[in-house]
Parts: sequence; structure tokens; C-alpha cells
Amino acid sequence: MINQPYPISCKVNGQTITADVSPEMRLLDFLRYELDLTGAKEVCGEGECGACTVVLNGKTVNSCLILAVEVNGSKITTIEGLSDVGNLNQMQEAFVDHHSVQCGYCIPGMVLSGEQIIKDHEKPSRDTIKEDLSGNICRCTGYQKIVDAIESVSETS
Ligand code: FES
Ligand code: FES
Repeated sequence: MINQPYPISCKVNGQTITADVSPEMRLLDFLRYELDLTGAKEVCGEGECGACTVVLNGKTVNSCLILAVEVNGSKITTIEGLSDVGNLNQMQEAFVDHHSVQCGYCIPGMVLSGEQIIKDHEKPSRDTIKEDLSGNICRCTGYQKIVDAIESVSETS
């Protein structure tokens, strides 16, 4: 039967999750509606804006483009898993300190992409930060302060 639920097991923010998911369920919907992890947002739903960014097996991905069945056996980190409840990690602190947050809708994706940039490059230039952040769109257009925040973390790590 093509629409039969499919059993998956994965680690989400360090916790083992087992579930039966429909074959057409997207990872974004699985996180938001099955696990109540609403940090990843849906805006375009077609891989253009980065609002739905999560980390899958160590790399940022657009969770609107991935099926939940595809993450069977994988490790996922969402914005909720970046720091303990009530605390902020260095990147999150930098976004606060640099006043990088306006409406906030793009920010979970921006923070996770910022983390990826710091991981991928030792002391990235401002141009590298901007280039690597090009998959994340901020509709409030506060790019300057977002780049400032990521740059400040890169300078201290
Ligand atoms: S909602 Fe996934 S990239 Fe825009
Ligand atoms: S802060 Fe509003 S979309 Fe980026």
C-alpha cells in the first residue's frame, strides 16, 4: 500500500525518536506538528528562503525539501537543540548583542546557518559570510546586523 505509514527512528536534539510517518510527510511538518519543534518555519516551501533550516547529519538543509522517511537513522539538530532551555549559545548571544532580530521569523535559520559558516571556515571574510548566507532570506532586510553577529563569533572562535 503506497500510503501506508513508514516506521522511522532518528535522533532529534540528542533524543531518540521513533514514529510512523506517512510517505509524503515533509521533515518540516514532522518537526513542527509531530514533535512540536516550531523553531523551523515555513515561508516559501520550495527551498528558496532558508526559514526551515535544520542541521541534518552535520549539514544545514532546508527541511521543507526533505521527506521525514528520508531521515530514518539520521541525526537532526533544530534551533531548540542548540542550547539548554533558558540559555543561549554564543551565536544566539551575538544575535541579541548586535540587535540582529527584527520580526524573528528568519532568525532560527540564520543562527543555524551562522553556526555552519563558523564550522566550515576558519575566520571567514565578510564576503564569505554573505555568500554562505545567501540561502537565507530576511524579509525585514536586517542583513547587516546578522552578518555583524556572525562575524563577531568568527573573530572570537
Ligand atoms: S520554507 Fe523551506 S526554504 Fe523556504
Ligand atoms: S527578522 Fe524578520 S524576516 Fe528576518
